[in-house]
Amino acid sequence: MRLPKPNKIISEKYVAGLSLFKGKQSKIKLSANESALGPSPKAVKEYLKVSKNFKRYPDSDGTFLRKVLAKKFNLDPNRIILGSGSDQIFELVCKAFLKKDDEVIVPEYSFIIYRIYSKMCGAKIIYSKENNFTVSVENILKKVTRKTKIVFLANPNNPTGTFIDKKKILLLRKKLRSNILLVVDDAYYEYVKLKSYSPGLELFKNFKNVVMTRTFSKIYGLAGLRIGWGYSSRNIIGALNKIKPPFNVGRPALFAASAAVRDISWLNKEINHVNKWNNIFHKEFERMKINTNKTYANFVLLNFDKVKINSKKVFNFLANSGILVRRMDPYGIKNSLRITIGKNKENKKLISKMKNIFNV
Ligand SMILES: Cc1ncc(COP(=O)(O)O)c(C=O)c1O
Repeated sequence: MRLPKPNKIISEKYVAGLSLFKGKQSKIKLSANESALGPSPKAVKEYLKVSKNFKRYPDSDGTFLRKVLAKKFNLDPNRIILGSGSDQIFELVCKAFLKKDDEVIVPEYSFIIYRIYSKMCGAKIIYSKENNFTVSVENILKKVTRKTKIVFLANPNNPTGTFIDKKKILLLRKKLRSNILLVVDDAYYEYVKLKSYSPGLELFKNFKNVVMTRTFSKIYGLAGLRIGWGYSSRNIIGALNKIKPPFNVGRPALFAASAAVRDISWLNKEINHVNKWNNIFHKEFERMKINTNKTYANFVLLNFDKVKINSKKVFNFLANSGILVRRMDPYGIKNSLRITIGKNKENKKLISKMKNIFNV
């Protein structure tokens, strides 16, 4: 019998951070950079109120939330597009701009989703080298050819936690050919409090060849609702809107997000918590002689070469103790693990388990 045959998919599957280990639900999940404190209680309240009515479709354009975002960040609501996670914005960008044999530049250690969607559209991925786990603008520029269509960049970057300063990212845009689209992913921007840094949205608001993305999955604690957004010129947003699936964001997500974004005091609580634990983690891991670099997000990257232990062993030991962290093999970073900052109790348990491994 001849059966329907799907197209050959030339890509890789995204392997999500585990929440189960050996079939058992893990108590402590520090593998997906989700918020430590969870969503604002105001967002939860809104979610519960709205989620009772699921007979009706949501507003397909998310007009109310776009207005809230426009007011909050001083933007044009017509240039905002909402996605089922910022993931969907990357997907739409790839579908709208890429064709077979185009080239897409991504830093060598960057968020895997960029290359997955690019490959699905037939593009070739070109990796730019990093300097000490920091994106190198010079190297990106060296990789540009006449086939280059898009440059993807998260700032701060996942999984390295490092950032590039505003001068450098402005220089990148200036030196890139004007018809190369720059995508700046602001997923972790809230955690960086340095004068030398500015999020993509602030720098490129008025550029016609940059797309900026933001997510409600990280600091806002709404990962399970799947909601993110993008901002760009009317032309680019118009192109993305043409292919955006209708009703792509559910009503509870739209309303929870609009409450979350207005709860500044909750946001600051999460930022202070993460900054406090970033310092503690840094000191503790230094004491254990584990290599880490200074991070500007809600996770740390650990390398175990100096302590001569295999990261797989550390991963398994932690997982057997009920703590899931992220292995870095899919990201191409050897002998390393990425650990999300969790709640006080979770972080304390992680440190105590790590001390057991390293006899500190
Ligand atoms: C760099 C980066 N961008 C975006 C996201 C979030 O994607 P989404 O908004 O689809 O949850 C993540 C989550 O891991 C990320 O690390």
